[in-house]
Amino acid sequence: MSPSSENIDYQPTMNVARAHAAAREHADATVQEAPLTNLPLILSAVVLLIAGSFIGANLSEQKGHRPQGGAQAGPPMDPKEKWLKDGAAVFSNNCASCHQLTGLGNTGSGFPPLAGSEWVTGGEKRLATIVLKGLQGPIPVKGTTYGTAVMNAKGGNPLTDKQVAQVLSHIRNSWGNTGSLIMDDQIKEYAASIAALPSPIPFAEVGKIPESENLPPTKKPFEAAAAAAPAAGTPAAAPAASPAPAAN
Ligand code: HEC
Repeated sequence: MSPSSENIDYQPTMNVARAHAAAREHADATVQEAPLTNLPLILSAVVLLIAGSFIGANLSEQKGHRPQGGAQAGPPMDPKEKWLKDGAAVFSNNCASCHQLTGLGNTGSGFPPLAGSEWVTGGEKRLATIVLKGLQGPIPVKGTTYGTAVMNAKGGNPLTDKQVAQVLSHIRNSWGNTGSLIMDDQIKEYAASIAALPSPIPFAEVGKIPESENLPPTKKPFEAAAAAAPAAGTPAAAPAASPAPAAN
């Protein structure tokens, strides 16, 4: 039982046996295992390649057919969708802290809702006035009077005319709201025309603006896209039928 006798009697035997076993296993591994483990990989790669080329072919086929199929269809990325998507980003960064992403506001803090608000879905002019100038209430919204807080111009943020147009378009077409889109050239022109009005503007001034008065119709590049929208099944169909933007 001494360590030296163990070394002499068994260790070489064990090592020889292991070495043989290892040699067999290695031999097996190189001959059989490699192809067996790689084969499924190779097969799936081939399948993916074939599937990918089919999908790619179908996509490019659809792209090629699109402009012919829809009379008003434009480039692959719908500019109206992008306008509203950018507006959603402006909203979440500059308005949602008070009016909430849900558009429901926070009555307890004096932040009125934009979802279902008559000021949001009504005439473009009074809505643009409120957002460009800010607001000093009290203001009635959906039957509740708000006035414990003041809103600064553009929610207190340095928004460009384009961002204002996008965010107004977004809030007029979110949470079930339906309204016309508003373009940057309309905001630019209107902002200049009301530059002399106070900011925040007292509600009484906003109340003077006729309920359904829209901004001067200038360039409205997405009007055609909006009119063609019913095919997409979105609620964008409503503006054309709703009474408010009749001046368009
Ligand atoms: C710091 C909080 C705050 C931010 C940010 C803010 N608002 Fe307001 N907003 C208010 C308050 C408060 C009122 C009501 C003012 C009052 O009662 O005098 C209001 C009123 C409004 C109204 C009219 C009332 C209604 O509910 O329809 C609109 C429209 C509006 N905000 C849109 C916006 C938009 C768009 C933005 C982002 C560009 C924005 N607000 C950012 C606090 C805010």
